[in-house]
Amino acid sequence: MQLVRTVAALREALLPARRAGQTIGLVPTMGALHEGHRSLIRRAREENDVVVVSLFVNPAQFGPDEDLAAYPRDEQGDADAARAEGADLLFAPPVQEVYPPGFSTTVHVAGVSEPLEGAQRGASHFDGVATVVTKLFNMAQPDVAYFGQKDAQQAAVIRRFARDLDIPVRVQTCPIVREDDGLALSSRNAYLTADERRRALALSRALQAARDAVAAGGRDAAAIAAAAREAMAELDVEPEYVALVDPETFLPMDTIEGDVLVAIAARVGRARLIDNATITVNIDSEVATLR
Ligand code: PAF
Repeated sequence: MQLVRTVAALREALLPARRAGQTIGLVPTMGALHEGHRSLIRRAREENDVVVVSLFVNPAQFGPDEDLAAYPRDEQGDADAARAEGADLLFAPPVQEVYPPGFSTTVHVAGVSEPLEGAQRGASHFDGVATVVTKLFNMAQPDVAYFGQKDAQQAAVIRRFARDLDIPVRVQTCPIVREDDGLALSSRNAYLTADERRRALALSRALQAARDAVAAGGRDAAAIAAAAREAMAELDVEPEYVALVDPETFLPMDTIEGDVLVAIAARVGRARLIDNATITVNIDSEVATLR
């Protein structure tokens, strides 16, 4: 695996593959690679001739009160993980390579970036994500880019701007990876104490409660959300939000039908955690498919 730090070096390294008509898969990350990221790299490895992993803790997507300085950083460990999963290139640029002096462009995605995470973290969060991912798409020009379903709203924002801006990339979302007890993997789980780790199960239990409510015939979004909130209260966790939304637009649903995304965020100790599940309700057959 080759380590490159500049856009010029990345393009030079990719040129032979591009000329040979080979496919390029990109896995954008902010490092602190865990099994969730590794599953994305494995998927990219299975599906592409060349795999690029980017490693960049993007200051533009952190709010003033967020954990930029404390965000876990371990470039050597990340390089080892990317290599072990078969990445060909690790692109780890310094901040000034991505945001050189005079940088003044922002990609803003209206609509889907505004509720939930956009409302909680401020508009600058998804502006920062959309801007850096647009840049990464232009830097690496991948055929396919891989993102985790855990950040469902982020994936929807990226799908939206890639379509709107005619960026020739397939945005592939991959399943959430969980611990055996259901906790979704996240770099921020590293902040949890033993007691907080136990209480962090509130999110996956709430999703299970929402599934159970739908399986029992519930179709009213407010009632399903209330069941999820109750499950969280049992572990003494107060959600920032429990929302049932359309998985593409993130508009709220009142009565659920078709695909619905149940999205949850909560602070547990110093960690801000998010999780989600998609439930498909086929109104004709009254069958709910849960995933
Ligand atoms: O999901 C992440 O790790 C980041 O938001 C991303 C997509 C790498 C952009 O900085």
